[in-house]
Amino acid sequence: MIKKCLFPAAGYGTRFLPATKAMPKEMLPVLTKPLIQYGVEEAVDAGIHTMAIVTGRGKRAIEDHFDISYELEHQIKGTSKEHYLTEIRGLIEQCTFSYTRQVEMKGLGHAILTGETLIGNEPFAVLLADDLCDGSGGAGVLSQMVRLYETYRCSIVAIEEVPREEVSKYGVIAAEEIEKGIYRVNDMVEKPALEEAPSNLAIIGRYILTPDIFEILRTTKPGKNGEIQITDALLEQARAGKVIAYRFQGRRFDCGSVDGFVEATNYFYRQGRS
Ligand code: UTP
Repeated sequence: MIKKCLFPAAGYGTRFLPATKAMPKEMLPVLTKPLIQYGVEEAVDAGIHTMAIVTGRGKRAIEDHFDISYELEHQIKGTSKEHYLTEIRGLIEQCTFSYTRQVEMKGLGHAILTGETLIGNEPFAVLLADDLCDGSGGAGVLSQMVRLYETYRCSIVAIEEVPREEVSKYGVIAAEEIEKGIYRVNDMVEKPALEEAPSNLAIIGRYILTPDIFEILRTTKPGKNGEIQITDALLEQARAGKVIAYRFQGRRFDCGSVDGFVEATNYFYRQGRS
């Protein structure tokens, strides 16, 4: 039912400078795999095979990554190294990738609106590759959310309980629990001050959105930090009772920050992933 996944990947990644000066943040590898490849794998695990990527200047490495490199293939064909490319080749065969550019970085909401041309009029997933998730119970986080969408048929945000002192880094919700781990959202605030935060339930980088969000985003005014915030647009849907928050099963690493990135690297290394 959810057939497309949008990857907003146009941000500057300033927290990783100078590494991100000429390289997209989404191409930073955790062990041998770039963040965005983990994201694409999670989408495939959720039954999604159409990837829509919002890029910006200096992000061409993402397009090259999801394309065949004939020279390289030719070079390692028949050698002991060929298996290194098996996974990425599989993704390229199974999925289609399309791209559009966000010309001005006016925020996540604006990046999602830029992706409208690739999504059209259907519900879709949004995955922020710098939030690296490892789902538990045999299902990726997006897969868990797609299943939930079949029941609720409205926008869904993935949430996590964060320490109180960290709420100002996130979009934070006020909500009532309607089933274990599933909430109906009443209010949401982007990066609130500690004393203004309605809870410590923070939105992380996984969403299912219904396509009316585009119409709302078109008239959403710049909010926190002068950026067009997806949280502000979602609030309009929430006021109509049309946003569910889901406390996902699994672990999430904030790979947009150096600490989270190191934590993810150690975690995946200990698990023997390569
Ligand atoms: P972040 O604020 O975490 O990413 O945006 P950033 O701006 O790249 O990182 P820093 O803070 O400068 O280090 C969350 C997600 O939204 C995307 C980013 O690429 C990231 O995946 N984004 C953000 C856009 O695509 N466009 C924007 O205008 C802003």
